[in-house]
Amino acid sequence: MQIEVLQTKILETPADGLIVGVSTALLDEQGLLPRLNDALRGVIGEEIKGRRLTGKLGDVRIVHTLGLLPVRAVILVGIGERGELNAHKLKETWAKALNKARHEGLAELLVCFGSFRADGVDARKLGETFALSAHLSQYRFQDYKTKREEADERTITRLALGIPPELKEDVLYGLETGTHIADGVNLARTLVSTPANKLTPEVFSARVVEVAKRYDLSYEVLEKRDMEELGMGALLAVAQGSANPPKLVTVRYKGRPTWESEPVVAFVGKGITFDTGGISLKPSLNMEEMIMDMGGAAAVAGAMEAIARIRPEINILFVMPMVENMPDGAAYRPGDVLTSMSGKTIEVISTDAEGRLILADAITYVRRLGATHLVDLATLTGAVLIALGTQTTGAMTNNDDWWQAVRKAAEEAGERIWLLPTFDVYREQYKSAVADMKNTGGRNAGTITAGMFLSEFAEQTPWVHLDIAGTAWDSKGSDLTPKGATGVMVQTLVELARQEAKKKSTV
Ligand code: BES
Ligand code: MN
Ligand code: ZN
Repeated sequence: MQIEVLQTKILETPADGLIVGVSTALLDEQGLLPRLNDALRGVIGEEIKGRRLTGKLGDVRIVHTLGLLPVRAVILVGIGERGELNAHKLKETWAKALNKARHEGLAELLVCFGSFRADGVDARKLGETFALSAHLSQYRFQDYKTKREEADERTITRLALGIPPELKEDVLYGLETGTHIADGVNLARTLVSTPANKLTPEVFSARVVEVAKRYDLSYEVLEKRDMEELGMGALLAVAQGSANPPKLVTVRYKGRPTWESEPVVAFVGKGITFDTGGISLKPSLNMEEMIMDMGGAAAVAGAMEAIARIRPEINILFVMPMVENMPDGAAYRPGDVLTSMSGKTIEVISTDAEGRLILADAITYVRRLGATHLVDLATLTGAVLIALGTQTTGAMTNNDDWWQAVRKAAEEAGERIWLLPTFDVYREQYKSAVADMKNTGGRNAGTITAGMFLSEFAEQTPWVHLDIAGTAWDSKGSDLTPKGATGVMVQTLVELARQEAKKKSTV
């Protein structure tokens, strides 16, 4: 799908549909609406009289032009009262309008950009928001369909924007940035949707390396023997039941002239390409969903692609441990005691609590590489679905300043996150009689004890943990997020990188 700037007059340009923003002031306002009404011989006035057109935020009304205009239909999109529209609402509203137009079979669309001006949203942000709406709402995962499905035959092929000349440059810049971010989100979605037989650690690592090479980023892939040398006993234990060997990919993005005496932010993502539970085998009902257990690593990969293209001035390490958790004669077992890279020992209670084991070593590793600020992302616990559902990511932290930075980025990106506590008393739940800790803390507060387990490896380094087990997959879907993999937290990570780049130095 192509987004371009219109070179001709919008009311004289042939296309399938024309998208126009309409406020509750309706025909009183200046702009395109009165002219459209005249051209359509008063049809819009009739729609208003019949209260089918209200201008309420999110109301979308399609009017057919019957040959009175060079477009087949006009899509009238409610933008509400003055001051009601903000960037988040605009993102959703545009997605809804585009989906309705697509359902009508309108493939080539014109958009009257000037009719969507929102208070506090500058032209750059407007362009960024439009590109995000378009690319996020129209994404489909079709890699393994040999024929396109009937309903999906309908696609938007062209979007041409009519832009007031004084805004053009900024809107174009925003469109470009928004496309970079959306491509990152959609990369994460595709990786998450790709089944485990098509995305082994080997294939996953090769795909990430391909992206790194494309943007000239330096990278490093740890093989099993490297992990053995480094003493990654926790990660290796999870890997030992699988015929597919583990990988640990690190990509360096250098946004500042030097690595020395600069903050180094690290994004660390859980990359379990399939989670059977191992010897603590999961029930077979819905087990196929565990292809999404690399959603954290996918978000890191998606953010990496977007950041490599946007080029914020900040140094970042992208870290993706990739492992398959399988039951096997060689698999690790409950009762095993593991020695992690940090030296801390772990008693395995459940081989299904594998995410925290691979992340423990990945976190230790990236701290040794010099990370000064950590964000880890993981489809870590089923319990976070019980606590927060599918629309809010669970967060934990050991540092309030770093948490505020991440919280602000998520807010700006329009992704919901919520902080859970890290009271010391929870540590009791994962004390072990034989080792330094157990890998589970029981059913109660399952998300919190899992996060606190990770904090034992983050130690003093400012750290925020994001449990995306509830949010990485949306089985219902919405206008902005088609059913399936969501690519959650890519937008937040990109925003965080941009915000940190704007600071002289991080906390
Ligand atoms: N990958 C799962 C968590 C998960 C559940 C992700 C549902 C997405 C949807 C994780 O490895 C896991 O199995 N966690 C266990 C932990 C328990 C054994 C302490 C869980 O949540 O049941
Ligand atoms: Mn598991
Ligand atoms: Zn898992």
